[in-house]
Amino acid sequence: MVLTFGVIGTSWITDEWISGAHATGLWKLTSVYSRTRETAEQYAAKYDVSSVHTSIESLAGDAIQVIYVASPNSLHYEQTKLILQHKRHVILEKPATTTVAEFEDLCSLARVNGVYLIEAYRHIQEANFQTLKSGLTQLGQVYGASLTYASFSSRYTNVLNGETPNVFSLDFAGGSLVDIGVYPITFAVALFGRPRSSTYQAFRCRTGTDGGGFILLQYENFSVSINQSKCYNSAAPSEIYGENGTVTVNATMNIDTVKLFNPRTKETKEWAGPKEELKLKEEAAEFARIIQNDDKKAAKDLEDLSRTVLQITTELRRQNGIIYPADKI
Ligand SMILES: *[C@@H]1O[C@H](CO)[C@@H](O)[C@H](O)[C@H]1NC(C)=O
Ligand SMILES: *[C@@H]1O[C@H](CO)[C@@H](O)[C@H](O)[C@H]1NC(C)=O
Ligand SMILES: *[C@@H]1O[C@H](CO)[C@@H](O)[C@H](O)[C@H]1NC(C)=O
Ligand SMILES: *[C@@H]1O[C@H](CO)[C@@H](O)[C@H](O)[C@H]1NC(C)=O
Repeated sequence: MVLTFGVIGTSWITDEWISGAHATGLWKLTSVYSRTRETAEQYAAKYDVSSVHTSIESLAGDAIQVIYVASPNSLHYEQTKLILQHKRHVILEKPATTTVAEFEDLCSLARVNGVYLIEAYRHIQEANFQTLKSGLTQLGQVYGASLTYASFSSRYTNVLNGETPNVFSLDFAGGSLVDIGVYPITFAVALFGRPRSSTYQAFRCRTGTDGGGFILLQYENFSVSINQSKCYNSAAPSEIYGENGTVTVNATMNIDTVKLFNPRTKETKEWAGPKEELKLKEEAAEFARIIQNDDKKAAKDLEDLSRTVLQITTELRRQNGIIYPADKI
């Protein structure tokens, strides 16, 4: 059975989601929303879709099963709330919400209305991430990890030119931590669980948001260091250190290769190589599976992961005085 879905948001990420979803053969786009009719119609025409909406109520009133939400972060909460009240499943782009209270609110609304709310963390659904995760037991005791995700944002050019694009605006709940930092944090939490404590040495950019910096997640017997930013690039690989060697991945998202180096035998074993998959296909397949099989356990695990990551970023924002409008309510 194919899941029918609508989309909120008309940027590149929505295009990638639609391509990934359609490639699974498990999803069919039937409805499009945008604030302006012209944009909605243009976007719908691109996908040969006839159901066009400029209000969330009208979109959620369509006979569709799921709505993919990729609007600006600060709109996620109100829009998702309305959709859940209409008993439609929601695939919500990260970061799901600005505050923990908003997230809890959405989770209980989803439960009450008998639908799923899934935050779209694509990287932990990649086949190569799953290979890494299942291989970790071979490492024996873990001594630590160093994770990197630093990618110069084209929007940072606007910041340098004196503008304030949404992703670098405090008013729009922007900044590197909640946009980029959440990927390596989710990566760590998916592998090692909730850290005992965390700290963030952020640097600020001209607009007042964090531009990136160094995060330390402290676990019972080891630490995970994270280097993340939207203002510079890093080609540094990410590594996990253990008793039986070092596992290296070239990135924390779109993982190309997974390798284990054993310092005793000096051997390198390749656990996984490049995958040709469309970037969002793996998450689209998994989310369809959860909804179609009514896999409450898998959905709950993802919900717990999202909650933990949001609790961590909230604490890290607090340490750095990064305040969003939703924090003041
Ligand atoms: C670590 O390597 C040793 C020596 O090869 C092996 O005996 C042991 O089972 C490995 N530990 C794990 C957890 O796989
Ligand atoms: C991470 O990036 C910061 C700049 O944000 C740099 O000062 C620091 O040396 C880097 N740390 C590691 C461990 O790569
Ligand atoms: C941490 O190390 C201590 C002492 O070696 C050990 O007893 C404990 O089981 C370890 N905890 C975890 C979670 O591995
Ligand atoms: C990891 O490898 C892939 C495939 O070669 C590449 O597209 C990607 O840019 C690499 N990531 C990083 C952070 O270097």
